[in-house]
Amino acid sequence: MALNIVVMAAGKGTRMKSARPKVLHRLAGTSLLQHVLNSCVPLQAIRTVVITGHGADEVEASAHGDGLVFVRQVPQLGTGHAIQQVLGALDAKASTTLILNGDVPLIRADTAATLAGACAGSQLALLTIELADASGYGRILRDAAGGVRGIVEHKDASAAQRSIREIYTGMMAAPTAALKRWVMALQNHNAQGEYYLTDIVAMAVAEGVPVVATQAASETEVLGVNSPVQLADLERRFQRAHAEALMEAGVRLADPARLDVRGTLHCGNEVEIDVNCVFEGEVRLGDGVCIGPNCVIRDSTIDAGAVIHSFSHIEGAHVGPGALVGPFARLRPGAKLGEAVHIGNFVEVKNSTLAAGAKANHLAYLGDADVGARVNYGAGSITANYDGANKHRTVIGADVHIGSNCVLVAPIHIGDGATVGGGSTLSKNAPPGQLTVARARQTSIAAWSRPTKTKR
Ligand code: UD1
Ligand code: CA
Repeated sequence: MALNIVVMAAGKGTRMKSARPKVLHRLAGTSLLQHVLNSCVPLQAIRTVVITGHGADEVEASAHGDGLVFVRQVPQLGTGHAIQQVLGALDAKASTTLILNGDVPLIRADTAATLAGACAGSQLALLTIELADASGYGRILRDAAGGVRGIVEHKDASAAQRSIREIYTGMMAAPTAALKRWVMALQNHNAQGEYYLTDIVAMAVAEGVPVVATQAASETEVLGVNSPVQLADLERRFQRAHAEALMEAGVRLADPARLDVRGTLHCGNEVEIDVNCVFEGEVRLGDGVCIGPNCVIRDSTIDAGAVIHSFSHIEGAHVGPGALVGPFARLRPGAKLGEAVHIGNFVEVKNSTLAAGAKANHLAYLGDADVGARVNYGAGSITANYDGANKHRTVIGADVHIGSNCVLVAPIHIGDGATVGGGSTLSKNAPPGQLTVARARQTSIAAWSRPTKTKR
């Protein structure tokens, strides 16, 4: 079945009290509009039109998807007026047009597909749901036989109509040709002086076009975002569902209420995640990985058996099998740790490779370095990788011992098996197998007495 999709995203979102267009606020790290567009992908519409208006430049620049078409609605005179603007952009070959809201982010692809299927190019299909508190929403009017007769907006509804709990979710699927006819005939004689898309329901009924109501599977997928409170509420619902899916797959979460996944988290078997961890982008955790509390991990892969201790910040890194990281470690983009590498507290690693068994356990910096197997990199040592204009590499061979508080001025090469004495600042290569020390020799003065100083 050929399909048009229209996503309404022109509204201002006054209640967000933000300069940012409402549909660009983020839920789980992705904009509200992009969530909707992502849900549209499996539907394979022949055309997807996004209606923009408020903050149109920004909204259009941020939305991505195959063959998206943008139509601007200026000024914004209501949902019916919005659809009037897109009629020319709809593909007439698609007999069904699905209308979604850019501020209802968690709509499921299968629900949208069911809605489009219920239309099937010939019926008007509405997505509805019963809410305990229906205030603010358009109510579904039914006749004695249960047939849908129309939608009345909250502001136009009588007291009796306001007691109806079945509401219109803002999503419908309509026969494309009839939709064009109906929206062109809309009037704005109502409480808000707007062109209501919802008025087309009564028009369909009057023409004898069947109107069907499809019930949404869950409240979460039809809840809209109008305020920061609603945004935070949906975020928690989304995260809870994500946490439950992970637990069903065997992941042990210390507390499903204290997990945030903003992207995709792939977990192997026997993975444990403590509280308050944030996963962003694409993160892969291998079998048996253990993540301590309060870690932030972004676009990284942690191999089997690795342990990430509390308060570690990891981005664009690859942690090898059985490695130990943290607490308080920072792995920056390009950090590649081999098997059983240890990175301890207050150690920063950037664009560096550490071969199997290498250790940097305390207060150190490794930037633009290649560190050999079994190297011990002492506390407080750093690579001076930046000369003020360019970055240079430090190469440390296998089995090297770098003492504490060393400065390795790159470019520099420390040969295999070398030992660098603590407190050395090296700006020349160190040969393999030898002790290299670059600091003043220690002296003691026997006949020395401390000068006496008198207070003035
Ligand atoms: C609309 C429905 C209401 C339904 C509710 C569900 C109408 C008249 N009413 O009401 O029955 O219960 O959604 O949330 O349709 N928009 C535009 N251009 C405009 C106006 C709105 O693009 O001129 C977009 C908004 O950005 C938003 C969507 O349409 O994405 C809905 O607009 P909104 O003002 O939130 O509709 P409601 O008054 O809540
Ligand atoms: Ca409104």
